[in-house]
Amino acid sequence: MKTIVDEGIKNKQRYEKRPNVDKAFIEKAIKQVLAKMDQNLETFTYKFPRPASIDGVYPAIDNIDWTASFWTGMLWLAYEVTEDEKYRKVAEIQVESFKQRLDNRIEVDHHDLGFLYTLSCVSAYKLTGSEVAKETALKAADLLITRYYDKAGIIQAWGDLNDPAQRGRMIIDCNMNLPLLYWASEVTGDKKYKEIAYSHVKQAAKYIVREDSSTYHTFYMDTETGAPLRGATHQGYADNSCWARGQAWGIYGFPLSYKYTKDWELIELAKKVTNYFLNRLPNDEICYWDLIFTEGTKDQERDSSSAAIAVCGIMEMLKDMPLADEYRMFYENSALSMLKSLALNYTVEIDSNENGILKHGVYAKPQGNGIDESCIWGDYYYFEALVRALKDWNLYW
Ligand code: GLY
Repeated sequence: MKTIVDEGIKNKQRYEKRPNVDKAFIEKAIKQVLAKMDQNLETFTYKFPRPASIDGVYPAIDNIDWTASFWTGMLWLAYEVTEDEKYRKVAEIQVESFKQRLDNRIEVDHHDLGFLYTLSCVSAYKLTGSEVAKETALKAADLLITRYYDKAGIIQAWGDLNDPAQRGRMIIDCNMNLPLLYWASEVTGDKKYKEIAYSHVKQAAKYIVREDSSTYHTFYMDTETGAPLRGATHQGYADNSCWARGQAWGIYGFPLSYKYTKDWELIELAKKVTNYFLNRLPNDEICYWDLIFTEGTKDQERDSSSAAIAVCGIMEMLKDMPLADEYRMFYENSALSMLKSLALNYTVEIDSNENGILKHGVYAKPQGNGIDESCIWGDYYYFEALVRALKDWNLYW
């Protein structure tokens, strides 16, 4: 049985003081997000931002990528905080686009159905009671569970299920696709979705998290025997390094599964994964794109999007953490420190022609895609983190 070591917080002093992030600071940052969104509203009504910007500008593309729902999710957040119908109107046009995408099976043969249909349709159902959105999200959940391998207990990430080269690969990102399944069990009363999600997250906890609390990006399982095979990276620096966003998906994803299963082991694990992440942050609190790079590294980029995801994950974890928990204060202060640094150092100027919100993200460096650019999920999670800091937010996840 593998023991996962907790590094603890190595530099406690760093997070002993609460950063000065008050309501006015958060409101100002949200105003900036909304101003940028207003500039983009017309362009991204029937079209969607490309996953990463090119020279700071997201081209407008069809609803075909795994990332399309992040903009729709931002529209729902904007509607929630402003109650302005203009955001709801565009979001509802996009919900229809997500229905068409699923009905016509356009680029839906992968596990990112969770990202896609949680932020577009589950959110719509939760905020407006839309039955169309609910039915569409349930159909997406039905499609997602066709990727489940019983023996291995995992959901396969990408690729044709009949392609042996892809078979049995789970990835840490999938933690964020599981809330669609937990939600489907809640609204239908059918336990199978939750059972699949819980099985997957336990396998991810067992095999994707390494003994030192870092994570593999991807891990292959033998789907015939259920045996673990090997870890490998796809978007990280090396198979044995720790891709920053993968770690961030872990920081957020394990607490999300806790929310639905109440399995405290998932929070204990999330704490270790979080400590590993915090211990590798450079002085300005924003991680490099792979955690093998730390303070002082030259010629490597930051990934602001990982920081935004981590902030949301820590904020979610804090909800359930006892006041006496030894890490509580460090987590509160680190989340605010990261959020503050993003707001002050990583946001796009309102009057620039760049159309993202956060600068300095990395999509997929080994593939040469989106390096030092805006990433649409970074924008989404930054906005979600601000909304979490502003009010008691009812999750779409
Ligand atoms: N889920 C893919 C990524 O984080 O880039």
